[in-house]
Amino acid sequence: MGLSKKDILDMESLDAEEINLILDTADSLKEISERQIKKVPTLRGKTIVLLFHEPSTRTRTSFDIAAKRLSADSVSLSASSSSTVKGETLIDTARNLEAMNPDVIVIRHASAGVPHMIARKVSTSVINAGDGMHAHPSQSLLDLLTVRQAKGKLEGLSIAIIGDITRSRVARSNIIGFTKMGANVVLAGPPTMIPAEIEKLGALVTYNTEEAVADADVIMMLRIQTERKNSFLFSNAREYSMVYGLNEKRLKNARDDVLIMHPGPVNRGVEISPEVADGPYSIILDQVTNGVAVRMALFYLVAGGSRNADDN
Ligand code: CP
Repeated sequence: MGLSKKDILDMESLDAEEINLILDTADSLKEISERQIKKVPTLRGKTIVLLFHEPSTRTRTSFDIAAKRLSADSVSLSASSSSTVKGETLIDTARNLEAMNPDVIVIRHASAGVPHMIARKVSTSVINAGDGMHAHPSQSLLDLLTVRQAKGKLEGLSIAIIGDITRSRVARSNIIGFTKMGANVVLAGPPTMIPAEIEKLGALVTYNTEEAVADADVIMMLRIQTERKNSFLFSNAREYSMVYGLNEKRLKNARDDVLIMHPGPVNRGVEISPEVADGPYSIILDQVTNGVAVRMALFYLVAGGSRNADDN
């Protein structure tokens, strides 16, 4: 079975079967990154454009590495190096890129809905690498893969997502992704950082950090995104850390087999202490490793690579 869609834009438009297909494909492609020669010819002759209009370390690099591991050619374009600075519209930019016949356009943008708009205007496959506060589907997929690998399942797990839920596209995509796969999502954080009616996405809300920590199989901490609507929405970082941050003392109330996650970038000492971020329960760097595998799977599934014994 393949993916029947042209684009990967959000978790709403993927069903559980498609999510499992992406995770299974990522699982099978992961070992390529563990080889001495980390490259297979699966997507030889394919071209991937990375259009990043927002800063990124993990997502941009791992999409680029994923393309190269599958032998696709990748081209990177940032906001400052594209002709949007001269007044060209994003739609014109996308149409001009399409005229060069790429197979996939990966786009990150600060405005929600930009990847969806571009996907409607071009016949090239579009992958959303994060749009405003809306969606970050490849992050959610790598988070699902990381938990599935560590726990052996997703169904029935309790996932606590703690922090700046309002401004987090990762939280939105993960509420949808984890609940679709049968996990239970609990959100915690200051009331100013939890949007009204977020429960409609299928999550429960608590304002009690201790409760969220104690009941969780997985705790995902989120950074406060002051770059979006430039305000802290809390008195100060020190107080935030005391009430909502994850530190060793608070972690004592957690389950013995709890897993600690964070999509990055981490603000050490604010939402998570360095001891916890680097400690034995942390799978933060496993998330990053799986980011390459998941993005290889997405390219493979949308760019129509043929995979057989000769490829590998
Ligand atoms: N998780 C994530 O999107 O990180 P980057 O902003 O570094 O890509």
